[in-house]
Amino acid sequence: MRQISNISELRKHLAGETSVAFVPTMGNLHEGHLDLVRCASEHGKCVVVSVFVNPLQFGPSEDFDKYPRTLAADLAKLKELANIVFVPSVSEMYPQQQTVYIEPPPISNELCGEIRPGHFRGMATVVLKLLNIVQPQVAIFGKKDYQQLYLIRQMVEQMNMPIQVIGGETVRASDGLALSSRNQYLSSTERNEAVFLYQVLKTIQHSIQSGERDMAKLESEASSTLAKRGWLVEYVSVRNRETLNLPDIADTKLVALAAARLGSTRLIDNLEIEIMNF
Ligand code: PAJ
Repeated sequence: MRQISNISELRKHLAGETSVAFVPTMGNLHEGHLDLVRCASEHGKCVVVSVFVNPLQFGPSEDFDKYPRTLAADLAKLKELANIVFVPSVSEMYPQQQTVYIEPPPISNELCGEIRPGHFRGMATVVLKLLNIVQPQVAIFGKKDYQQLYLIRQMVEQMNMPIQVIGGETVRASDGLALSSRNQYLSSTERNEAVFLYQVLKTIQHSIQSGERDMAKLESEASSTLAKRGWLVEYVSVRNRETLNLPDIADTKLVALAAARLGSTRLIDNLEIEIMNF
């Protein structure tokens, strides 16, 4: 495994590689990230992982400064899994003020984008830059960040980028909580409570699969369950999985998405729901 922080050095190492699989991350790696890296090694001969906490995708009152940076531990975890770990500095990625941005589609102003204005613009811009720098054949992103994955797929398709985007399944703790770098902000009481975000999504999934079609009712029941337990709910929403639009009655491929705060920690999760027609 080689650690590279310089773009031109990275390009030199990747010159002539025709089978590059890339996993962009912000570091503080957990099993969810490592699962994507293992998936990358099944899809490419040269596995590249980036570790870069991207200032462009954090709002002014968000946790950019506090975001956990654990490079030594991350490198140790990647030692046997990645060929190249790209760890650029902020000035390497943004040598001048970034004035050219990717403007994601209007759906980026809903769900997480409604609460985090500008987040997806900053995310899409850095992902485009990273994809241009690494020029992989395959790029892997987690379904944990479902809206992010959707927007990246749209960008790659609409910008004619010759890259196969693969969505990796969400890796969860044994109680069901989706692994996240932000879980470590939780106190032990909050950690025990955190699994309820997944629980309410499971309840929605079960209700829909049992025939319930009143999505607004399911969403408001889930929100009030969380609120009664002390969560500050940002949204619970059932969407069409392929467009992220509100679902039509005939849609069979859905996803329930939620974001809520426990104390000062913001957690997100989602669950894909398949309606079987007999
Ligand atoms: P980060 O939060 O570090 O996540 C890196 C990748 O890991 C993303 O594709 C995310 O969806 C995936 N991931 C996170 N938790 C996961 C879990 N429990 N199971 C499976 N995959 C999981 O997402 C970002 O960084 C950034 O926005 C980035 C794309 C790197 C751009 O800055």
